[in-house]
Amino acid sequence: MRTHTCGELREKNSGENVTLQGWIDAIRDHGKMVFISLRDRYGVTQVVLANTELIEKASEFGGEYVVQVEGMVRERPSGMRNLSLDTGGIEVVASQMKLLSPSDVPPFVIKDPITAKDELRMKYRYLDLRRPSMQKKLLMRSQLINTVRTYLSERNFLEIETPYLTLTTTEGARNFVVPSRNFNGKFYSLAQSPQIYKQLLMIAGVDRYFQFARCFRDEDQRADRQPEHTQIDLEASFVDEDDIMNLVEGMISAVFENILGIKIRAPFERLTYRNAMEKYGSDKPDARFDVYISDVTDIAKKSEFRIFKEAKFIKAITVPPLTRKNIDELSEFALKYYNSKISYLSFRETLSGNVAKFFSPELSGELKSALSISGEKTVLFCAGDWKRSLETLGAVRNKILVGETPKEQYKLLWVTDFPLFEWDGETGGWMPCHHIFTMPKTDDFVDPSKVTGKQYDLVLNGTELGSGSIRIHDRVLQEKMMEIGGMSKEKRDREFGFFLSALTYGAPPHGGIAIGLDRLLMILSGENSIQEVIPFPKTLTGTGLMENVPSEIEDEKLKELGISITQNR
Ligand code: AMO
Repeated sequence: MRTHTCGELREKNSGENVTLQGWIDAIRDHGKMVFISLRDRYGVTQVVLANTELIEKASEFGGEYVVQVEGMVRERPSGMRNLSLDTGGIEVVASQMKLLSPSDVPPFVIKDPITAKDELRMKYRYLDLRRPSMQKKLLMRSQLINTVRTYLSERNFLEIETPYLTLTTTEGARNFVVPSRNFNGKFYSLAQSPQIYKQLLMIAGVDRYFQFARCFRDEDQRADRQPEHTQIDLEASFVDEDDIMNLVEGMISAVFENILGIKIRAPFERLTYRNAMEKYGSDKPDARFDVYISDVTDIAKKSEFRIFKEAKFIKAITVPPLTRKNIDELSEFALKYYNSKISYLSFRETLSGNVAKFFSPELSGELKSALSISGEKTVLFCAGDWKRSLETLGAVRNKILVGETPKEQYKLLWVTDFPLFEWDGETGGWMPCHHIFTMPKTDDFVDPSKVTGKQYDLVLNGTELGSGSIRIHDRVLQEKMMEIGGMSKEKRDREFGFFLSALTYGAPPHGGIAIGLDRLLMILSGENSIQEVIPFPKTLTGTGLMENVPSEIEDEKLKELGISITQNR
């Protein structure tokens, strides 16, 4: 129906008769001439109406009307060029114009940058998506998928789909459940990830698998969490950690090159979980900044401050001088989210801070040289157990660094050697830190806190982008890990019997990874929330404002499913 798109015409097309179709982005009435900006996915073209009949017709049109224009391409005089448009060197002088579809007045102005509230944008997502910046992200999403698909297909990976309707899986979130009509009282779970299926594909001899897998998790939402997200999920047989890490480094480099035209330096830095925690107070450190945490236990214990004297660990972070107000805000934050207290010393002309009186001049001098402090600095301390004190300062570090200019734009790194289990005070037992299929690095399980796994997490600018591991391929070991993780024999057999049995029929050594596609895209497009890169996202409470979900269903349907609602929350 059209000869060109609205982003296509250039000076070389001058003199051609063309037909364009698109949305009216703007109409400017200059009396004897009317200018229409015609928009589609590819761009905007200026259309000139110079005869009274057309001008009259256009007076009935408004923004977002869909129209067809026929006319001749004309080069714009040099002073009239619009350098901000790719088509800014030309305009189309209309000879005919046809209405294809009228539009009500939209609930917000469809222009970049958007001023409408998020709720309104989500309710009318199909209008919000018309904005060029949103179209750009949809394009990027498609390019990302194509790059990954090409990269993996060229390396013998087969793209295979796995079920969404399945049983409980173990990524640590709650499952969304789907009631069965044929078996009232029974439910499917929506897959939290294809983890078990991809391992079964390795047992099936597929050797190399990948999938753009939708994963469903009923958990509290955050800026980088949605109830359904997409993973670049892959698995390979006869591989070790380096094989997967090298493969992923190549894949991520191809993505950066194809999408942003940026060359990424590989291999990526590798940090053990312990080092990441000690240095940055996080297992997903933002290493774009040279601000580190230090252990000052030995020195701080020599002070007269009782809390330091009694603490197991005292960690510290040295930052440019903070105001009293900054420190109060950070202390409040640490208390609220980490249940931790923060103390501080300010090294200026004189020593100040809430613990200054407990530090003799010699001791503060010792601390100053241990932390290599020169000039004015504030030192924030957190005393307590290893993990909590580090995590508190890690979060404080992130808060201080927000808005600072990083020394590099993108910092990718691997975190390895994660612990497999952590003590759960509530249940009084060991809990798996991630899923239970990761190969341990030891066969000594006497102290589960000391067992680390062949796991590798990919981190980009402080966001966990992906997580993977070499898997257990032996039933006895798999059951042992489940047992340490507190899973009874009955539960193991009920939920994982089919999988445990599969492990006994010649399971090859294998491993893989899953990368959060939405998170990767969020960072590539410079956004702070994955809502911005998901075509139809949910709100932070998991609702779909456009379709109005979740919603009630008819009594008839409930009856069919054998369900009666006893409680409405
Ligand atoms: P994991 O649970 O760590 O591992 O998930 C892998 C990656 O998926 C992304 N991700 C999410 N993105 C948006 N919203 C969410 N709710 C969400 N949850 C996770 C993150 C994360 O790093 N089966 C294993 C992978 C494996 O071992 O191969 C798994 O799912 O970027």
